[in-house]
Amino acid sequence: MSKRYNFPMPFGWYQVAYSIDLEVRQSKPLHYFGQEMVMFRGEDGRVRVLDAHCPHLGAHLGYGVHDAEGGGRVEGNNIVCPFHSWKFNGDGQVEEIPYAKNIPPKVKDKQCIRSWHVEEKNQVIWVWYHPDKTVAPKWNVATIPEADDPSLGWSKVDRSKVKTWRMKTIPQEIAENSVDFAHFIYVHKVKSDPSAAGDYDGHHCQRVVKANMETPRGVIEGSINSENWGPGQSQIRFTGITETLLFGNLVPVDEELVEINFTFFQPLVNGEAPKGGVQDAIIKDLIRQLDEDKIIWEKKVYREAPALCDGDGPIARFRRYYSQFYAE
Ligand code: FES
Ligand SMILES: [Fe+2]
Repeated sequence: MSKRYNFPMPFGWYQVAYSIDLEVRQSKPLHYFGQEMVMFRGEDGRVRVLDAHCPHLGAHLGYGVHDAEGGGRVEGNNIVCPFHSWKFNGDGQVEEIPYAKNIPPKVKDKQCIRSWHVEEKNQVIWVWYHPDKTVAPKWNVATIPEADDPSLGWSKVDRSKVKTWRMKTIPQEIAENSVDFAHFIYVHKVKSDPSAAGDYDGHHCQRVVKANMETPRGVIEGSINSENWGPGQSQIRFTGITETLLFGNLVPVDEELVEINFTFFQPLVNGEAPKGGVQDAIIKDLIRQLDEDKIIWEKKVYREAPALCDGDGPIARFRRYYSQFYAE
C-alpha cells in the first residue's frame, strides 16, 4: 500500500523497455513494481525476465564487472551470474555450475528464480505484473498494427524522440486524466468544450473526444481516440490535420512513483519520419500538457467521494472500470 494513496499496484501488462533497448545476447537490470529484475535476450531472439537476485549468494544478475554493458553474460538462451558463473535458463532453473561436480539438491531441477511473463509487441517489451505471482496473464497485449508491422510504413521507435517522465503519483490518477474533461479547458487551455462517447468492455476502454488543437496555423478541429487495455497499455490516436499515434504507456516504479513513456508514430513521408510543421507542433503540445498535469498530480490527494458537477466527465464510470485491476 502506498502511504499517500490507499491503493495497491494495479495488475496488467506494463512496458518495461523498448525492443531496441535489448540486443541479442544482452542483459540489463530492471527496477519496476518496487522489485529488482533482470531481462535478457537469448540467441533465439526471445526476451526473458527473471527476478534479479541469484539463489547462490545473492548477486544481482543485471550488474557485473566484466561485461561491456555490466549485466550477466548471455550464453545461448541462458544468463550467467556475474558473481560465480552459475548459469540459469529463462524459467529460472540452474543449467550449470562450472566449478561444481553436482548441482545441489536444494536447487536441482527446480525453479529457483522467479520468471516473469513477457510479451514483445509493438516494438515494446512488456511484463505481466500481478501482486499474486501465481496469477497468469488474464489477457494479451493488444497488437497495434502501425507499430508492430513495419510493412505498413509508419515511423519506428526513435529513442531520441521518446519522452519519459517519472511522477510522484499512482497509475489511476494519470489514467483518470482522460475523462476529466473540465481540466482540459482550465489546465491545458484546449479551446472547445470536449464531449465524449465512452465504451467499456472488460479490460478495454475507449473514448472519442472532439477537441480543437492549437497549431502555428491556428485552431484545427480534430478528434482524439483514447484506448486503454488495462492500466499499463494506453494509446491515443489523433486524427484531423495529421495522423499521429501516441503510446502513453505507464508503469509503476514503486508504490509512489510512476514512469510514463510517450512514443509517437506517424506515417512515413518519402520513407522518412515527418519533421517539423504541424506534426511537431502537436507532439510539443502533448508534451506541454503532461508537464502541466505533473504539477497538479504530484501535489493532489485522491478524493474517494468527490463533489462532481454536471460539466465533469464520466469519472465515476471510469473508476468502476478501473477498480477491476485491483486484486486486493
Ligand atoms: S551469487 Fe550468483 S553465482 Fe554466486
Ligand atoms: Fe491533462
